[in-house]
Formats: sequence, structure tokens, C-alpha cells
Amino acid sequence: MEDVTGTQPPLLYPPYASTILRAPRRPLIRLPLNTSDFGAPVYGYHDIGPADTDLTRQHVGEPLGERIIVAGQVKDEDGRPVANTLVEIWQCNAAGRYIHAIDDHPAPLDPNFTGAGRAITDGEGRYRFVTIKPGAYPWRNHPNAWRPAHIHFSLFGQSFASRLVTQMYFPNDPLFAHDPIYQSVPDVRARERMVSQFDLSLTEPVWALGYRFDIVLRGADSTPFEGRT
Ligand SMILES: [Fe+2]
Repeated sequence: MEDVTGTQPPLLYPPYASTILRAPRRPLIRLPLNTSDFGAPVYGYHDIGPADTDLTRQHVGEPLGERIIVAGQVKDEDGRPVANTLVEIWQCNAAGRYIHAIDDHPAPLDPNFTGAGRAITDGEGRYRFVTIKPGAYPWRNHPNAWRPAHIHFSLFGQSFASRLVTQMYFPNDPLFAHDPIYQSVPDVRARERMVSQFDLSLTEPVWALGYRFDIVLRGADSTPFEGRT
């Protein structure tokens, strides 16, 4: 058995204040899977189109900010590509503001940016998005708390029960040392697996910088996922 100690964040991590309220206080109960949990499609009602993978083309105009390409490969614990996986992302705009009712911090919304996308991995487990580099934003976890720039990722396997959620960061962010969500992953090398890598080969000249974010679903090299038990 591979040693996976410290690769995943605990459900309760008091410096991340919300976990105090939402972490289970009683032993977990494993729900029995029934037949509807197997093989049930979890894709949206509509087929994925070009605007789903290009978040800069979902409105009449182009969003403000630094256009970027985020691409990578989804792999299992043996390094094998995981094809046909639904990858969903959501993020704030370049100013650090989400289109969300409870995000009221004083930064502008962008009428040309929603901040949500989805893609299906190809036969080699690869996905690719075009988007805008998200800004850092303040939150109320502790005094003067700021989140490092990040993109939220959700991955679905073959059924709804197989959903995994994580966050992708950008290299060398000075806020890592001050972010309890990043710090909640005990193993330092596992934390770094949440950080994308600048990749010149993904960069398109005169158009957009490229960042690579490979995702490993399980095992000792697993990407840290939220709420995994
Ligand atoms: Fe966020």
C-alpha cells in the first residue's frame, strides 16, 4: 500500500475557519451504493461547445485581464490517462470578484466574464481552457485575509458519487504562506501539486501565456482534493 499520509487536507483545520462549522463531529457513515450510482451520466443538458472551454468568448465582448491557457492531463495512480472525464472550472474575474450573491467586496464585476467552464478529457486524458488570470481576493477568515489567485476544479468520473474538487494555483504566489486553505494540506510536496507550472509550449505567441495543471486522482502522488475521506 502506498503511503498517502499528508497528501490530502483534513476535514477539520481550525485556521480555515469554515471547517470548524462544517467538519463532521461524528464518525462518518459509508452510504451503500445503489444501482443508480453506477454509470449514471452526470454531464449537463447541453453538449459542450467552444464557449464552454473558452471563457473569454461567452459574452459579446472580451473580458478584461490577462488572457491565459490552462491545460493538462488527468491521470490515475499509475500515470495512465483518464479519458472522457468531465472537468468543470469556476473562478473570479481579473479584479478578484465572483459573480455570486454573497461576493460584495469592492472590486468591479466584468460584464464580459462569467467565470465558469467545462471540458471533457480526450483519449489521452487531456483538457484545455482559455480564460483570464483570476485576481487575488480578500475573505473574512481572519484579519487581512487574502486568497492566492486560484481556479476551482471539479472532476467527475463515471458517476455522481465520484466527484473530486480541488483548486489550481499559479507559481510563486506570495500569498501561499498566508493562506490556510493552501496550508491545510500537510505534505509540502503535495501542496505544490496544486500549483500549475508555466509552460512556454502551451503559450500562444502574441496571444496568451500557458499554464500546465496535471491532475492525479489517487495514490501517493495524488492531487489534494477537498473533503476527501
Ligand atoms: Fe475561490
